[in-house]
Amino acid sequence: MTTPGSWDETYARDTPPPWDIGRPQPVFTRLAERGLLAGQVLDSGCGTGENTLLAAAHGATATGIDLSAHAIARAQAKAAERGLTARFETGDVLRLGDLGLTAEVIIDSGVFHVFDDEARVRYVTSLASVLAPGGHCYLICFSDRQPGEIGPRRVSQDELRAAFGDGWSVDSIEAETFELSQARLGITSAQAWLAVIRRLG
Ligand SMILES: C[S@@+](CC[C@H](N)C(=O)[O-])C[C@H]1O[C@@H](n2cnc3c(N)ncnc32)[C@H](O)[C@@H]1O
Repeated sequence: MTTPGSWDETYARDTPPPWDIGRPQPVFTRLAERGLLAGQVLDSGCGTGENTLLAAAHGATATGIDLSAHAIARAQAKAAERGLTARFETGDVLRLGDLGLTAEVIIDSGVFHVFDDEARVRYVTSLASVLAPGGHCYLICFSDRQPGEIGPRRVSQDELRAAFGDGWSVDSIEAETFELSQARLGITSAQAWLAVIRRLG
């Protein structure tokens, strides 16, 4: 797993990281347009906050958490520039229970896929500690349909179902697209899964 410092260094560079495309991931825009990013929304590993701010713009009480202080500062600046209200904090999404948060909806845009097997277990436990029973987690990750080895670890549908096995219902997993900026990876999109996962009461 990558260290906190390396994530922060990534955001401190002049060129944004490949996932930091300066707009929400289109899959989350479609979810917001369907009214699904509503209430207390937590963007887990929010980066520079585009998906958090999307939820805020649709009326959610939105919170973004990320390890990277550079990313959080950028997210706070964007909120101010756009006149949007959202809470952004540096924090560890493997220990969300420490942050005193409650969420009705969790967004995960490219975070589950950064964790190794051991951290995945901790991550899912951490998500469960803040998501209300019946609440939904909308998660996009690189899929095992994406060829090559550039970018993060690929995730299979079976891995998603196994990770969210106990105390969760994986309601759907659909093929989606992860948009990327071309500058560092040399590609502008990747095959992804959108998993819609519900915490059981
Ligand atoms: C691939 S990026 C996705 C960022 C953002 N969700 C987006 O779509 O732009 C993964 C993010 O997870 C964050 N991250 C990784 N491990 C973390 C942890 N343990 N706690 C909080 N954030 C973490 C990184 O700093 C990075 O911003």
